[in-house]
Amino acid sequence: MQDVVDFIHTNRDRYITELKQYLAIPSISALPAHAADVKKCAEWTADEMRRVGLQNVKLVETPGNPIVYGEWLQAPGAPTILFYGHYDVQPVDPLELWESPPFEATIRDGEIYARGAADDKGQVFMHLKAIEAHLKKAGKLPVNIKVIVEGEEEVGSNNLDEFVRQNKPMLAADVVVISDSAMFDRGVPSICYSLRGLAYYQIDLRGTKSDLHSGVFGGAVANPAMVLAQILAQMKDRGGRIKIPGFYDDVRELSAEERAEWKKLPFNEKKYKKDLGAPKLAGEKEYSVLERVWARPTFEVNGLLSGFTGDGAKTVIPAVAMAKISMRLVPDQNPDKIGQLFDAYIRKVTPSTVELKVTRMHGGKPWITEYSNPYVQAAGRAIEQGFGRTPVFCREGGSIPVVSTFQEELGIPAVLFGVGLPDENAHAPNERLDLTNFHNGIVASAVLYQEIAATK
Ligand code: BES
Ligand code: MN
Ligand code: MN
Repeated sequence: MQDVVDFIHTNRDRYITELKQYLAIPSISALPAHAADVKKCAEWTADEMRRVGLQNVKLVETPGNPIVYGEWLQAPGAPTILFYGHYDVQPVDPLELWESPPFEATIRDGEIYARGAADDKGQVFMHLKAIEAHLKKAGKLPVNIKVIVEGEEEVGSNNLDEFVRQNKPMLAADVVVISDSAMFDRGVPSICYSLRGLAYYQIDLRGTKSDLHSGVFGGAVANPAMVLAQILAQMKDRGGRIKIPGFYDDVRELSAEERAEWKKLPFNEKKYKKDLGAPKLAGEKEYSVLERVWARPTFEVNGLLSGFTGDGAKTVIPAVAMAKISMRLVPDQNPDKIGQLFDAYIRKVTPSTVELKVTRMHGGKPWITEYSNPYVQAAGRAIEQGFGRTPVFCREGGSIPVVSTFQEELGIPAVLFGVGLPDENAHAPNERLDLTNFHNGIVASAVLYQEIAATK
């Protein structure tokens, strides 16, 4: 094992040069204009899998973006890892807020800045380099591994979900390994044991067949922008509680033990507020900040559009208004059921003066697991070797839709070990990844395979 670790240290600079190439491909899954880049990125991922020594590498076509698959199954009797990650990235707008171009990876103060650096290309690459180190240095891996890297995580993983359901024998494994989340804090590595789910909708309102002169018609017709504001205002009360009837029915309350564990985590509310630049934090007073983001569901407006927003003033009644909204869900809420409750409620609170259209965008179930299995313990030892510190256990507020599908369809545990940092701007301008964490993550991943091998 030591020679594998030495190999990783020796190759540090090469990894960064290669990662820059990966980060140069604008694989934005949400934007149809980038379809060719997404495809190119799938091919780059496949080529890289071949270069590191994975076998039977192929692109699996789907109705959407290809899934990249590769494997190394030459360790008879040893456990099999199913590694999952994604090569697609989020859009980069607002572009003017980037300090360096999002697809020209730039290093400043030990961090590599680019879209996808932390979410998730950098973390996928870390595992590919760990695999490479074993195969190049030892000629073999201590475990069997199946690698899938998808191109639609940022748009809800619908096709991957179907792929998992249809290909259970091909994906059979002992444990799923994922690096697509953040550490608790700088210097505080963590293992994530729960993710929130998601239900995402677009709401369209139409008042009249075209925009109207607000003097000539104002007073006699509904204003969709105003109606939209009134509808949204009825979704939550002042205390932050969501008013959709039945919304909280399936929310699993936090146990006293879990609450006590979280109180021990090194969390500083003042610093959190300051780092975010928020005048004051908001939300349900009865819950701590960590509880609000890890164990409570939300209703958020992700975007609003209506009427005249240019310079100057225009006296107009907009014909239409649109909102994108999403709800983060916690165990044991179900996105389909929540969708029905939301649909019924919005229909009830929408006045008959406007036409309402509700469109479901995507969704994903929440995920939670016990962390007392041998694979999680193996990860704990690996992280300790890579980062010099044992990990803390935490939940995450974000969502990775396929994780619950793996749990339900394959019935195997998942180990989520992320090396991003909470302030590395995933989905925002100036996304970055700390290169020390990236490097330590390669070591930890390489050790993780060894430690998982030792569980059997
Ligand atoms: N890697 C994130 C999810 C994540 C973020 C997990 C932070 C843990 C901590 C993932 O790429 C992501 O952004 N997921 C989307 C899912 C959605 C588009 C279906 C999310 O959470 O918004
Ligand atoms: Mn991700
Ligand atoms: Mn993401």
